[in-house]
Amino acid sequence: MAYENILVDQKGAVGIITLNRPNALNALNGALIEELNDALDRFEADPEVGAMVLTGSQKAFAAGADIKEMQPKHYMDVYFEDFISRWERISRCRKPVVAAVAGYALGGGCELAMMCDIILAADTAKFGQPEINLGTFPGSGGTQRLTRAVGKAKAMDMILTARMMDAAEAERVGLVSRVFPADELLDEAVKTAEKIAEKSLPAVMMAKESVNRAFETTLAEGVRFERRLFHSTFALEDQKEGMAAFAEKREPQFKDR
Ligand code: HXC
Repeated sequence: MAYENILVDQKGAVGIITLNRPNALNALNGALIEELNDALDRFEADPEVGAMVLTGSQKAFAAGADIKEMQPKHYMDVYFEDFISRWERISRCRKPVVAAVAGYALGGGCELAMMCDIILAADTAKFGQPEINLGTFPGSGGTQRLTRAVGKAKAMDMILTARMMDAAEAERVGLVSRVFPADELLDEAVKTAEKIAEKSLPAVMMAKESVNRAFETTLAEGVRFERRLFHSTFALEDQKEGMAAFAEKREPQFKDR
């Protein structure tokens, strides 16, 4: 597939996807989402890739769903098309995805970042769910993921008033993991993804799956799920290697792919 709305690059074991509709502040339209999904499918299938980075421009990670594309749609259009269902592909990635957010992450852009596993922000980042200003409300998981990430008080405040959160507040309330000067953001995101990609891929994938289970189930079920997966790591060559390397005071060489 030829890409017109994203750029794709690979640095070692890290796949990098850059949203690239500069004239529309990376507003997310159907074509962009199909390209994004295609790139994710390729990186997921590539055994060389251990982690991915999703980023945008300095001005905008993404300013939301493309309002001009949505404007003519009626209820029957969005219902039959199951509008938005294609947007969730990134949340089903089994390899980790680091979102590197500079500038605006609004509406569907904020929701896309929240579908990633770690959000790193530039000090210029602005997160918001301004859909209420358009007579609608977040439709790509915003009411659910934002509430789980920052709690009801902040989520209601943002979703009902359309107020934006700056990077410092987003870090304070736990929406983002770390904040960097804007010109260092991408390097730091790639470094973070490289660090993850150096680990045992199956252990990383199981750890991700287990953390995500915390959002879906009770504590007791989640702990049982974790234990089953934890036990299964004892079948990995990588686990043998990791523990042997510790005992032998050397760096581990993880190979399971
Ligand atoms: C379509 C958009 C867009 C969007 C910006 N643009 N956001 N086009 N959809 N979401 C376009 C503008 O129309 C303009 O195009 C160009 O990008 C530059 O934007 P400006 O508004 O001129 O820039 P600026 O004055 O710097 O303001 C930046 C901004 C503003 C504050 C981010 O663009 C803005 O409020 N955008 C909309 C944000 C929003 O409401 N997002 C939620 C969308 S709904 P032209 O051609 O005029 O130069 C949503 C639903 C999610 O996301 C649920 C389903 C996923």
